[in-house]
Amino acid sequence: MPFALGIGTGSIPPAAPAATALDTPVFVSLGFPRPGARASPTGDTPSSLLGERCPGQLARLRSPIGITYAPMAFALSAELERQLEQIIVRYPNKAAACLPALHMCQRANGGYVSDEVIAFVAERLELGPAHVKGVVTFYSLLNTRPPGRHQVWVCRTLSCCLRGGENLLAHCEKRLGIRAGQTTPDGRVTLRTAECLASCGSGPVIQVDEQYYEHLTTDEVDRILDRLLFEG
Ligand code: FES
Repeated sequence: MPFALGIGTGSIPPAAPAATALDTPVFVSLGFPRPGARASPTGDTPSSLLGERCPGQLARLRSPIGITYAPMAFALSAELERQLEQIIVRYPNKAAACLPALHMCQRANGGYVSDEVIAFVAERLELGPAHVKGVVTFYSLLNTRPPGRHQVWVCRTLSCCLRGGENLLAHCEKRLGIRAGQTTPDGRVTLRTAECLASCGSGPVIQVDEQYYEHLTTDEVDRILDRLLFEG
């Protein structure tokens, strides 16, 4: 096929194709330093160390100042990898599998989504880590820190409050010696509040791990908490 540059013909050489969104490296701030990154002498994290190229190059990325990032520390077992593949193919695109993938990885990671889990899910689903982190911090059922062995959710929405939900929360805080959002020092119970647990006709309601307790009184809450603190 003849090759013509157009020199001497007066024609204009074709311009280089414009970069598409996928050709262009995307750098986003995650808000946490990458594993293996060196702290700056000033204590600030240089923006170059927060950079993230997406999709799918996390373990191989090298910063402009020559730091090689550590490989991702989180991995699934072969069986869970197989289950993750089955989840992904159920959806029209990989991004749509973000929530079930995060729930699976959270269970495999001791009940919380660490930075390594975020990097893992981002790579598998070909998403930016900032996107995945946004999902994790939006949904209250995804934990960013290790929770206690049991999680107690007290509904604080209107129907339950009209039936004594606020008193129930105060009672739980006093009984456990912690505030909502905290974990008992022995790591047994994390106390949290929930927006409407969808059982408004049977308030006040609490959820303990996967189980609902309805029409509660403080005596019944004491029995539940005793079981969690001393038996569970
Ligand atoms: S308001 Fe508590 S379950 Fe709906």
